[in-house]
Amino acid sequence: MLRELAVRTIKPLLSDMAWKRVRRIDPTTARRDAEIAARAARRDAEIAARAARRAAAAKKAKLASQAAAPPSLSTLAAKYGTDKWGGPHMHQYTPHYQHHLGHLRNERFTLLEIGIGGYKQDKAGGASLRMWKEFFPRAQIVGLDIEDKSFVNEDRIRAYQGSQTDARILKEIIDDADNLQVIIDDGSHRSEHTLQTFAILFPQLPDGGHYIIEDTQTSYWSRWGGTADPTATYTTMGFTKTLIDGLNYEEVTDPGYQATYNELKIVGVHAYHNMVFIDKGTNADGRWNTNRG
Ligand SMILES: C[S@@+](CC[C@H](N)C(=O)[O-])C[C@H]1O[C@@H](n2cnc3c(N)ncnc32)[C@H](O)[C@@H]1O
Repeated sequence: MLRELAVRTIKPLLSDMAWKRVRRIDPTTARRDAEIAARAARRDAEIAARAARRAAAAKKAKLASQAAAPPSLSTLAAKYGTDKWGGPHMHQYTPHYQHHLGHLRNERFTLLEIGIGGYKQDKAGGASLRMWKEFFPRAQIVGLDIEDKSFVNEDRIRAYQGSQTDARILKEIIDDADNLQVIIDDGSHRSEHTLQTFAILFPQLPDGGHYIIEDTQTSYWSRWGGTADPTATYTTMGFTKTLIDGLNYEEVTDPGYQATYNELKIVGVHAYHNMVFIDKGTNADGRWNTNRG
């Protein structure tokens, strides 16, 4: 009652600032204002605490998902310094490898790479072998180089020395290998070597295995024994094109046609910029045999 009277009679006579000061004199109003302010502060604190809890949970989830997802092959290529992935003077091979070999990530098998790296330089090379070792945590990684690269030997990595066209050393590697599933030719990049190595090693891969040839661009470079003639069949790329025809050998119209080993045992040829993946299997679908043109 008294308050209402004061509001009606005194408030119109005072400035806003003065009225606020007068209100603080009233202990009821002051207590109520203090309670309102305390409630607001409590609410603000709760909102801030809730936001902090949400941010902490999101950070924890992000860290957990990062820990669960193993690094990509491109990340590992950069970590170990192989030129299989990178900028302007590097190749862009690793996404293709991840696509074609990703299913082997947790398998026990042997991967052979021809060409360990570093050429004649002392204690140089081994980058890709280390990358493969981390990418395939249960695989044995084997390398062959014409130079002595024994310094790369460690748990799950073994280096052999010899030429990629030497059938003896290739047989030794095959005999030692347990469940060979992947062969990569990153050696001399000379077509005559590449094709000889393929002729020796491809028959040794089991069905389901993968044979990869890198740096196929040397097919067109005369210094590497290549030619700019795209119809040449003696280069790695020319040979690859014949493999693509071979995929369809069953539809060759000559009734006396005898399929070659490669035609019978290659089920996929995937050519990308400067590299080729060749899939081993049994190429004998047979469904169209009676329908020769
Ligand atoms: C391009 S480097 C390999 C790079 C490695 N794979 C990497 O990605 O880090 C090529 C290697 O092949 C080796 N090499 C050259 N000719 C060879 C041959 N005929 N047989 C075996 N290795 C050969 C070289 O000594 C060199 O170290």
